[in-house]
Amino acid sequence: MKRRKSKNNLILLVVNAAVIVLVLYLVRHFDAELQKLILGLQLDKIAAVEKIVAGIQLVLLGGLAYILVRALNFLVFGMFRLRRGFDAPTLVQNVFSIVAFSLLFLLIFSLEFPNANLGALFTTSAIFGVILGLALQDTLGNFFAGISLQADRPFQVGDVITVGAQRHTGVVEEITWRAIKIRTFQNHIVLINNSSAAKEPIEVCPRDNLNARLVFFNTLYTDSPAKAIHVVREAVREADNVSSRVTPIVRIRNLGESGVEYECKYWLDDYAKYNDTDALIRQRIWYAFRRAGLNFAFPTRTLQIERRHAAGLRAGDGGAIIERLAAVDIFAPLSVEETGMLAQAAVRHIFAPGETVIRAGDPGSSMFVVHSGRVRVQVNENGRSRAVATLNDGDFFGEMALFTGEPRTANVVAIEETEVLEIGHSAMKRVFDTNPDLVESLSFIMSERRQGLASQTDASTSSSDESAGILSAIKRFFGIS
Ligand code: CMP
Repeated sequence: MKRRKSKNNLILLVVNAAVIVLVLYLVRHFDAELQKLILGLQLDKIAAVEKIVAGIQLVLLGGLAYILVRALNFLVFGMFRLRRGFDAPTLVQNVFSIVAFSLLFLLIFSLEFPNANLGALFTTSAIFGVILGLALQDTLGNFFAGISLQADRPFQVGDVITVGAQRHTGVVEEITWRAIKIRTFQNHIVLINNSSAAKEPIEVCPRDNLNARLVFFNTLYTDSPAKAIHVVREAVREADNVSSRVTPIVRIRNLGESGVEYECKYWLDDYAKYNDTDALIRQRIWYAFRRAGLNFAFPTRTLQIERRHAAGLRAGDGGAIIERLAAVDIFAPLSVEETGMLAQAAVRHIFAPGETVIRAGDPGSSMFVVHSGRVRVQVNENGRSRAVATLNDGDFFGEMALFTGEPRTANVVAIEETEVLEIGHSAMKRVFDTNPDLVESLSFIMSERRQGLASQTDASTSSSDESAGILSAIKRFFGIS
């Protein structure tokens, strides 16, 4: 389409040039007749008539020069576009035209007025220069700032830029010798003088760069951060125009008055469409929240009446806790009432992915059952961490320190968001009092775990000896005869 238009323009120029050349030829050829014709119009002075004819010739030559420059422009920059695949900067095109015009002007002038001394005209006219300089101060400022913009190329057509104290943001459409033309996201055109742009900081988001955006959202304090982060990250990465080259980052930016405040950082394939993409992402978050049962925070006043335990919330939904404890193999022999009592005493805690539940070497007087999620048991060996086991829902840990009174033997770290049920010393003592056989199965499990803890190079004692040792240590510690 563009190519056809420029071809038409070129044809038009050639036709115009041909017409002008023809008229020029006629004027020159029928010079005497033309003079007679004008004389016939009562203009008696021959000199005046000659001037008129010369004037007509000058106008025609000027027209021809204009057409010639346009045609040259087409040819030179058409070739440039063909070779490079993009248009040459407007400023360069304009400078080319100005130089070509000036040269043609000098040529025509010296041909038509061979006696006039052009050099003297320009060099001796100092006053003319000062006046011109003052008059063109702003224009020249823009012109030279435009040249430095073209040379530096801090941004290009198609980039998104933000300029000036008023922070005009838009897509660069053109950089001319006078101004930068940007199209704002309200589809307005803003022209910023080159000279003022040169003085202001300009924020550039290049078209071929991976530019990022931040979208903010929040959740109620009761919603799990690990879940919110996961849900939003998955929802955002699938949205249109979100780059697949970098995974979006979702993180907590503030614990606000009404809820937990998050930011979602994502990268765009086409930065110029960031308004649409921001909106799409907010929409995706809303739907993802709906599906995942998450809630946006809003200013609320909540009166919370809760029974609190020293370290955490006492297990609330008794049924689920009883069910969970009943499914733990070491508690299988307990009666329904005993499991119920244990559930009553259990304290529920929630850990984020990567949080440490138990630290090796700490004292400990409670054990834990994994209610939901996963934890990793790991030990430090020669400054490096070695994973010993992974425990899932229904598994227990922390029993070694609880039953022997020794320090914790390993680090236990949540792999994903994990809820645990903490059972203290007194609750376990009650269980042992009524189920002394439990000690035996526990001591067997503990001896097996100890084997796993020992480094590969350690010569370990036999499993049955170890188990017997643990059994008597538990009995001693809990005062079981
Ligand atoms: P405790 O020593 O109190 O604290 C760390 C806990 O990690 C430990 O109790 C066990 O419950 C657990 N643990 C240690 N070694 C193993 C293992 N080999 N397999 C499973 N759990 C273990």
